[in-house]
Amino acid sequence: MTDNQQFGGAWTAKKLDILKRYLNFYSTALKNQNFNLHYVDPFSGTGTVDADGELITSEPIEGSAAISLGVANPFFKYHFNEPHAGRRARLEAIVSQHPERNVSISAVDANTMIQSVCHELRHRRGDRAVFFIDPFGCQLDWASLKLIGSIPGNDVWVWFPVSAVMRQTPRDHSKIQDGWRKRLNKLFGGNEWEQTIYQASQATQVTDLFGAPIEEKLTRESGTKALDNFVTSKLDEIFQYVHPQPVPFYNANNSLLFNLYFAMSNDSPKATGLAQRVINHILKLS
Ligand SMILES: C[S@@+](CC[C@H](N)C(=O)[O-])C[C@H]1O[C@@H](n2cnc3c(N)ncnc32)[C@H](O)[C@@H]1O
Repeated sequence: MTDNQQFGGAWTAKKLDILKRYLNFYSTALKNQNFNLHYVDPFSGTGTVDADGELITSEPIEGSAAISLGVANPFFKYHFNEPHAGRRARLEAIVSQHPERNVSISAVDANTMIQSVCHELRHRRGDRAVFFIDPFGCQLDWASLKLIGSIPGNDVWVWFPVSAVMRQTPRDHSKIQDGWRKRLNKLFGGNEWEQTIYQASQATQVTDLFGAPIEEKLTRESGTKALDNFVTSKLDEIFQYVHPQPVPFYNANNSLLFNLYFAMSNDSPKATGLAQRVINHILKLS
């Protein structure tokens, strides 16, 4: 990893293009409304992304923080967070180019940062926020999403680490390591994932000499469909609206790396209908 972080390729550029289009839509559509708009980026990074070889250009591109600072209709407040000192210094340098923006930068675990921003939002009733949750892997706790979903007026984009979860859920259930199980319990907010993702199939039942089952061997299906359905149904429990199609991001070998989910804690059919139309439009362009 260099100073300008290298953690993606074509998919990073596409993810950030979706974010840029959405933030421009959001900040323009709501600019004359009677509430303050917040942008919340718990995994801010340096503000700049050095694209790797999958991109045609090797020029650095704007990261999420720089994109948000550059929107035509600025947010009332920007909440950035980056615990890594070197990356945070680069982020601060980008922020210093926008002295007119109202920015706070913290240096804590993302879940702690989400808690404190949600505390602030809860006390500023009526404000609206967009959260962009962009971890490297499984650092997000489900409790953080629950908190975001519990405050009306939040939009959230979640970069969900499908391949990291698949690595920690081997086909053979008995091979899950304790550390993985603990992390996944936090990521999914409980241990329900184990029953959902793993099934006993007849083919894997171990029987005695007379054919009676002596042990049920649990296996995970190949493919990521069960995981996707599980995440979508869990998001549905905490948000009033979840876009029906997460955006899939594949590597060059066609393996699913991440899903990008969009959800809103907003029960206005007008707002959710508009968001769905806009996202469908953005996805055609990106
Ligand atoms: C994928 S990068 C973010 C990229 C950024 N959104 C952008 O577009 O430029 C993830 C960032 O999260 C930071 N990070 C890692 N673990 C973290 C944690 N537990 N809480 C908050 N940030 C963390 C890393 O230092 C890294 O900069």
